[in-house]
Amino acid sequence: MARAATLEDVGSNAEDIVAHLDAHERKSMLRFITCGSVDDGKSTLIGRLLYDTKLLYDDQIATLEADSRRMGTQGEKIDFALLVDGLAAEREQGITIDVAYRFFSTERRKFIVADTPGHEQYTRNMATGASTADVAVILVDARQGILTQTRRHSFICQLVGIRRIVLAVNKMDLVGYARERFDAIEADYRRFAEGLGFESIVAIPISALEGDNITTRSTRMQWHNGSALLPYLETVKLDEAKADAPFRLPVQWVNRPNLDFRGFSGTIASGVIRPGDEIVVAPSGKRSRVKSIETMDGPLDAAATGKAVTLTLVDEIDISRGDLICGGASPAEQTDQFAAHVVWMAEDGMLPGRQYILKTDNTSVSGTVTDLKYKINVNTLERQPAKTLDLNEVGVCNFSLAKPVAFDPYKENHRTGSFILIDRLSNATVAAGMIDFSLRRAQNVHWQSLDVDKKVRATAKHQRQCVLWFTGLSGSGKSTIANLVEKRLADMGRHTYILDGDNVRHGLNKDLGFTDADRVENIRRVAETAKLMADAGLICLVSFISPFASERRMARELLEDGEFIEIHVATPLAVCEKRDVKGLYAKARRGEIKNFTGIDSDYEAPAAPEIRVDTTTRSAEDAAADIVRFLEEGGYLGL
Ligand code: ADX
Repeated sequence: MARAATLEDVGSNAEDIVAHLDAHERKSMLRFITCGSVDDGKSTLIGRLLYDTKLLYDDQIATLEADSRRMGTQGEKIDFALLVDGLAAEREQGITIDVAYRFFSTERRKFIVADTPGHEQYTRNMATGASTADVAVILVDARQGILTQTRRHSFICQLVGIRRIVLAVNKMDLVGYARERFDAIEADYRRFAEGLGFESIVAIPISALEGDNITTRSTRMQWHNGSALLPYLETVKLDEAKADAPFRLPVQWVNRPNLDFRGFSGTIASGVIRPGDEIVVAPSGKRSRVKSIETMDGPLDAAATGKAVTLTLVDEIDISRGDLICGGASPAEQTDQFAAHVVWMAEDGMLPGRQYILKTDNTSVSGTVTDLKYKINVNTLERQPAKTLDLNEVGVCNFSLAKPVAFDPYKENHRTGSFILIDRLSNATVAAGMIDFSLRRAQNVHWQSLDVDKKVRATAKHQRQCVLWFTGLSGSGKSTIANLVEKRLADMGRHTYILDGDNVRHGLNKDLGFTDADRVENIRRVAETAKLMADAGLICLVSFISPFASERRMARELLEDGEFIEIHVATPLAVCEKRDVKGLYAKARRGEIKNFTGIDSDYEAPAAPEIRVDTTTRSAEDAAADIVRFLEEGGYLGL
């Protein structure tokens, strides 16, 4: 599309063309997003902008006119929404993407508008599309005024660092171009947005459908003194990339075409670099100097934010993909615990204590929310206590990571300060986060190494430490079998300890119930305790329903190879329910107990446990004997 516009007004002379391309190249670039639901006229607005700036090919216009007559909603007029939706359909033939970027340009400026399709996932798309935008155009339907959604979108804009807002009050034609209506909506919005501290809010009454106040000032709203939308976007001041920002280059790949050349490639996240500059690499802390800055178009004397480069260094130092090259005078912080703002994007709520994959711009690490401090009511901007975050909610939490990552606070650097969270089982993105600061306790608590280690402790007991993790439904026989195994081991003079769900819930985990979040925390605590038991050189038997695959995997990963032995006591639900030793199934069926595993709460059976016990074919005694044999054969008891 942009091609059509570029060629349109250029002469046939080669010099003219070169001059034109040159001018085009030097035009500034504005990135913006549009926020609002489809019904607010987002597609119509984008379609109208492309149409009025003459960025469409003739055949696209012909198709649009024909489609509008055939299936449009606008009678004889053009239905601009069809244009954008049509383009969206083309796009969807390829891969599914969260955000599509649309380019267009006018005489004065180039534009990239982040188009964030989809109704439901809108907040999620916004958080991803918004992080690079200079301006957000927030669309409001003049008939409806400011809605919760408007406030939510504004809040997220503020969160991701957008400083300039256009409040586009759309569908003015449907309220008779009434000034009072516009003024009331603007006043309402300004009252709300006061707490958000935007640098500027410009309200413009528009009709995307009729073209009022889009490219030129509307004659139908003479009362409006401000500019139309496009002229505003063409002239609004852009934030200059800070020249003194610390240099950051996330290494995307190590470029080694032959033995004589080794370069580190990526897109500069911030700052400026020149040959001769000193650099320091995170996490290794190694230092060197820049030898050259290579690009597709040859070497450079300097490169800044946004430029894709390959750096070569004076020294041969080890740098891998995922490392962060920083300016020598301003290394990035490294931390394994930090506080962050999080926008939750999944249907399933956040589970503090669950291990998620935390993915920064260039590295991935396992991480958990250790503390959800509060969530934010987007209507009132108040902080509210919360145990979880649901779809589209925003909160502040502390994170703990499996290993340190290099970062900057989001306020200082959007790229090195942001991350997404990914569910480990489904691989879905569940949240977007913005790092506030590193927790000081992360720096002040060090691992204390001790002279007597677990090997010494276990050897003294003539055994190899391990955790026998029994999982299965309530009443499946976990505790019965664990008890029999422990008796046999005690008879053999082995050193053991049983952690039993019902018992631990009388003490350490007395504060926890049976919601998903509480079960996650229940298992986190018992896994950490089992790890300490293994460290003491014991054979630890854990007997918990532990219904979620994620948390059992977390427990496995806490331990060393061979230490975690998962035992699925695979008694079918019908059999457990028939036995109903504690009478709990009957109560659950009567609705007297909520969230009962197998009835109205999930049990995710292990896919590949070390041992599976079928209690319908084997007695508890036989099962216990099988498990002890497994330990003997595995060399756990023979020392
Ligand atoms: S877990 O799911 O968090 O691992 P845990 O093993 O600690 O559960 O506790 C399960 C025991 O709590 C059951 O054996 C049963 O006696 C009791 N219980 C009480 N309410 C429930 C419930 N809603 N779901 C499952 N077990 C429950």
